[in-house]
Amino acid sequence: MRFRNKHLRPVKRCRPSLLIWSIIGIVLLFHLYTLNQMQSNQIQPPIYYSDQNSITKELETVEEEALHVTTARSRRNPRAVRRKGSQKPPTIIDEFLDKSTEVHELFFPDMTRAINPLAEGNDSTGYFYPGQIWLDTDGKPIQAHGGGILYDEGTRMYYWYGENKDGPTYLAHQNAAARVDVIGVSCYSSKDLWSWRNEGIVLRGEEKDETHDLHKSNVLERPKVIYNDITKTYVMWMHIDNANYSKASVGVATSQNPTGPFQYLYSMQPHGCESRDMTIFKDDNGKAYLIYSSEDNTELHVSPFTDDYLNTSNEFRRIFVRRHREAPALFKFQGIYYMITSGCTGWAPNSALAHAAESMMGPWETLGNPCMGGNVIFRHTTYFSQSTFVLPLPGLPGLFIFMADRWNPANLRESRYVWLPLAIGGVSDETLEYSFGFPLWPRVSIYWHKRWRLPDGWRDL
Ligand code: GAL
Repeated sequence: MRFRNKHLRPVKRCRPSLLIWSIIGIVLLFHLYTLNQMQSNQIQPPIYYSDQNSITKELETVEEEALHVTTARSRRNPRAVRRKGSQKPPTIIDEFLDKSTEVHELFFPDMTRAINPLAEGNDSTGYFYPGQIWLDTDGKPIQAHGGGILYDEGTRMYYWYGENKDGPTYLAHQNAAARVDVIGVSCYSSKDLWSWRNEGIVLRGEEKDETHDLHKSNVLERPKVIYNDITKTYVMWMHIDNANYSKASVGVATSQNPTGPFQYLYSMQPHGCESRDMTIFKDDNGKAYLIYSSEDNTELHVSPFTDDYLNTSNEFRRIFVRRHREAPALFKFQGIYYMITSGCTGWAPNSALAHAAESMMGPWETLGNPCMGGNVIFRHTTYFSQSTFVLPLPGLPGLFIFMADRWNPANLRESRYVWLPLAIGGVSDETLEYSFGFPLWPRVSIYWHKRWRLPDGWRDL
């Protein structure tokens, strides 16, 4: 009789299936490795010109920022807290929006600290100060909110178009968002992106005709202009709405001149869908696209324009479905398309996200929060601002200006501009799901600076 020794483990035979699976595993690992190598070779770090390295080093310095403010939370009397129970204290965002607080004052510094191109020659000349009042060459605060910039090859000038919100802020009804009447679209011109000349209102709001899209009681937001090389026309697209934001449409206007006047053509719901926050993007090959928040702002749609840019084509793609993103700003570098978006919290700031795609029509992938520096609150509120546009700097490949609005719903005409350097380079910090052929995206970084400037002669570097 044979006894089984229970302490002896049965000898396992190497089964053929196990061997096959191991071989498949090794092949897969090898494939993954080579793919990784290929991708990292494909997406190279930005190529900088001779002395660009030292220039970008300065712009890409991670600047920390401490917040020295007394919040209402710290001001609360402990006895009152005990008496009233655990009443929810205001958040820093509540205080930022409340014009009676110290936090609000800190983020909306007054006229004494305005950026003034007329006062040339002092040590502020050429410096951007995010959040400070910015004067034009007439000494008046720039009114170009939710704006975008067109570089005009003909005049070699930059044109900044945006919402003129220089009117009183009020609520259309109790639960409505703060608003100002439609005044129109302002245009400013500049050669250096720092000192801006007012070119006037290039598309005017309508005073009398209540049925007109641009009637003052409606909404005109986020105007953007591109040039059509075929029709030799400047084409403006904008968000058109009523005071309740239920019309959710886009409007189109054209001009033969960058400084207008623009002729308003019509509004529409692209593909029969709602369109609220939007932008447009012209690719290197002349093809242009409309990108808009739709389906109750739960997703974005991307659609190519017809060749004259006056309409969308039949094709469109839904992207970031159920992600609730808005305020899209598009840019392109080394063949890759990038987008910055915000969350949907009205005038209140929230975290930005960067996205990338190999084609405008997607698939689009999310890279993560691009904000670097400042402090954790700054990074989670996009420096207390919301994206509107990203401007390429032709002399400095891989570097862009991130343009955002610091909205002041207590007094919208007092909203500020937050312009910061945006750089593409390094590996994205979000771990992405793996699938074959999946690109490894470079990181998109928006660097916080209290004060910064473009390098001398940046246009000709
Ligand atoms: C924001 C949007 C702004 C404006 C605002 C009104 O979400 O980005 O452009 O529409 O809402 O509350």
